[in-house]
Amino acid sequence: MANKNLNNANKAKKDEFYTNLTDIEDEVFLYKSQFAGKTIFCNCDDPFESNFFFYFAMQFNFFKLKKLIASSYAGSPIAYNLFEPTDETKIKPAYMVELNEIKNTDGRDNFDFDDIKRILNDLKSKIADGAATDGKNKLSILKGDGHYAAGDFRSKECVALLKQSDIVVTNPPFSLFREFVAQLVDYDKKFLMIGNLNNIKYKDILPLFMRNKIWLGYNSGHLWFKVPASYEEKATDFKIDTNGQKWRRMGNIGWFTNLDVKKRHEEFMSYKNYNPQDFPKYDNYDAIEVSKTADIPKDYNGIMGVPITFMDKYNPDQFEILGVLNSGSGNEYDYAKAILYGKQLYARILIRRRIK
Ligand SMILES: C[S@@+](CC[C@H](N)C(=O)[O-])C[C@H]1O[C@@H](n2cnc3c(N)ncnc32)[C@H](O)[C@@H]1O
Repeated sequence: MANKNLNNANKAKKDEFYTNLTDIEDEVFLYKSQFAGKTIFCNCDDPFESNFFFYFAMQFNFFKLKKLIASSYAGSPIAYNLFEPTDETKIKPAYMVELNEIKNTDGRDNFDFDDIKRILNDLKSKIADGAATDGKNKLSILKGDGHYAAGDFRSKECVALLKQSDIVVTNPPFSLFREFVAQLVDYDKKFLMIGNLNNIKYKDILPLFMRNKIWLGYNSGHLWFKVPASYEEKATDFKIDTNGQKWRRMGNIGWFTNLDVKKRHEEFMSYKNYNPQDFPKYDNYDAIEVSKTADIPKDYNGIMGVPITFMDKYNPDQFEILGVLNSGSGNEYDYAKAILYGKQLYARILIRRRIK
């Protein structure tokens, strides 16, 4: 078991990017009305360090949640602790916490940070035989199933938690993004999650965009994440804050979801007319190159290649996604490389205007 945990810890090294509270607030708040009466599951989230769990715990009554569940992974190192000084030498167990009610010490529900801390620490101090409850809320230590380590989102225990949940909200391990999405689609769950936008062009993800099973949320861009002290210092996109906490910045990060997003129903307005000089055809594929999403010609009804950033403006009633120009062999919808005047371009999404 010790070896297995070490292996997991090595694998997890590239996955330890902890999300900033403000980035979570900026996105998650926009879906507030969709959370009422729902069970939220943060399944890559240690309750003692995840801002996803902390944010939903703080909004528990305001969002009218039914239940909040978080589970954490045995292979995950301690990156920091929200409630106590961080001790990276500790091995953390795979926790599962289930909140059904949050009140402050007076029994009122205008609780704060200290109340969340009190509830968690109280449960932690009561753990016996791997579980504790205060009558309403529960904390337990996950065991794993012989195949998957404790807290692995694919383990039997976590799948059982997934089944009783309505919406998964998290930042999953970057290295397992595609498997993570596949599981959510298989179990027909609602989700809101962080990921790298480059995933869009790959074979397991693009068809889901084409079938309207997944789309982008509101925010995207460069995000700063807390990383464990063991992460190497870098010349760029790296900082150490006044508390000694290391941070790394990742580009091309966005939110992937199947919750309703208003902008998906808004018409994308373009102001350019088509002309063959500004919009030449690829050397090797019968579609025009549109190098900037903003320039999509308003009067062209044929196939157009657009940058991946288009997905941020995608309204399925206005455009149809036909495939991708990427490597030419990545998947059944990856028709060719995007080559223009003999030069290979970045990946392009192939779209066509829906004629009304
Ligand atoms: C990108 S980090 C984000 C952590 C947290 N969700 C947040 O946003 O702050 C992904 C987390 O998933 C954990 N992890 C890695 N492999 C996992 C697996 N198979 N199942 C569940 N969690 C895993 C990592 O150790 C890490 O803590």
